Amino acid sequence: KKSQQDQAKRLAAEAAIEFVPPRSIVGVGTGSTVNYFIDALAALKHDIEGAVSSSEASTARLKKLGIPVYDLNGVGEIAVYVDGADEINPHLQMIKGGGGALTREKIVAAVSKTFVCIADDSKWVDVLGEFPLPVEVIPMARSYAARQIVALGGDPVYREGVTTDNGNVILDVYNLHIEKPIDLEEKLNQITGVVTNGLFAKRGADIALISDGHDVKKHT
Ligand code: A5P
Repeated sequence: KKSQQDQAKRLAAEAAIEFVPPRSIVGVGTGSTVNYFIDALAALKHDIEGAVSSSEASTARLKKLGIPVYDLNGVGEIAVYVDGADEINPHLQMIKGGGGALTREKIVAAVSKTFVCIADDSKWVDVLGEFPLPVEVIPMARSYAARQIVALGGDPVYREGVTTDNGNVILDVYNLHIEKPIDLEEKLNQITGVVTNGLFAKRGADIALISDGHDVKKHT
């Protein structure tokens, strides 16, 4: 079962390579699926200019494979951003942040023209919310933000022992059945002290490459 899922992640990741324009700076996400993408990208490293990365972990892997990593501030618009998801629905709206990199991921996604989501088919859902929704919060606002999230109908749990790449904490919000992802994304962003939430609904993916371990299905 596990190796079939790994195979699915690898196939989805390799299918994303065809969306990478020559000589471009590629936006690179975070996670076990993206790690396969980084490995595939390394084979093309002479055909691309480099990458912008959404986490310290991806930066380290890119550099180790000889792919230059640029600071986002020095780069204009990015053509393609490739990233995984914890859940994705048929509107290509996602929950992300299981790995804790949601804020940088949202920033790189915002700068990118095309978001390509790569995932194994366990991530494909009709309604988002079975996976606990990560919310990154400024440390001193943790309890306040948690109370506001309860008022919105969620059950926040502090992800103990975790500090994000930006020095903040994460609340994982359980028991959401997200019928209106754009609404909830906006409401969570209105809470003072919330930095970002893991709903990528207003800006979802443009292309999803979903694999069962045998084939890759492309959704647009
Ligand atoms: C990282 O913060 C997340 O948004 C990842 O994109 C997500 O957790 C997917 O990870 P896997 O590819 O490991 O499932």
